Amino acid sequence: IQADRAKGPLSGKKVMVTAGGTVERIDPVRYISNDSSGKMGFAIARAARAMGAEVTLIAARTDEAPPQDPEITLVRVESAQSMLDEVVSRWNSCDILIKAAAVADYRPKHSADAKIKKSGDTMTLELVKTTDILESLGKVKDNQFLIGFAAETGNAEYYAKDKLVRKNLDLIVANDVSREGAGFGTDTNIVSIYDADGLVLDLPISSKDEVARRLLTLAAERISGVTR
Ligand code: CTP
Ligand code: CA
Repeated sequence: IQADRAKGPLSGKKVMVTAGGTVERIDPVRYISNDSSGKMGFAIARAARAMGAEVTLIAARTDEAPPQDPEITLVRVESAQSMLDEVVSRWNSCDILIKAAAVADYRPKHSADAKIKKSGDTMTLELVKTTDILESLGKVKDNQFLIGFAAETGNAEYYAKDKLVRKNLDLIVANDVSREGAGFGTDTNIVSIYDADGLVLDLPISSKDEVARRLLTLAAERISGVTR
């Protein structure tokens, strides 16, 4: 296996993957999050490792067990802000960044240090926007290859292409999470992959492991020949 990895299509490449759903604290016992299971991101981390890459997996809330391969560096984070900090601190030595995580778009403006007690009949939570991690890195992109995900519930192609351009990505993986066999929590996914010129790959329902391999093969082809 070692020898295979040494000549794998991603050998010598540093791949950073984000996975899971970020947790935005309201107080010590309550939070805002989303339905991301982390399965897609963990599958990408395993596949990248199998293809020879040096892998860092930045994981927010997930039910996935830590990867068995000790060569995959696992970094646990909670909030969008902590994910941003971890990604930025590793950005300069990254060849490929794959943002499979579902990052909260808004977080509570105030996070209480002590459990909030109930009082009136209604309660208003003020939310503020989080930093868009991909968008901010897309602006300072050097040689890094950036891959985003777009989980949509309709018009996936339109929204995915818009995100690809807006965030200056090299590839975007679009899926319609309202389709059976796609999206959060499932072991399979149905994805279409786009670049700035349009559709690159339309995959039938496939395991997340297979989607990960196909995606990384595309990335490897596209960065090959580029030395840094
Ligand atoms: N993303 C990010 N930082 C954020 C929000 C999203 O890096 N604060 C990344 C996600 O990890 C994903 C991509 O951007 O790879 C698209 O996320 P998505 O939620 O689909 O896009 P948004 O731009 O947040 O748009 P919307 O939620 O309104 O569809
Ligand atoms: Ca979002």
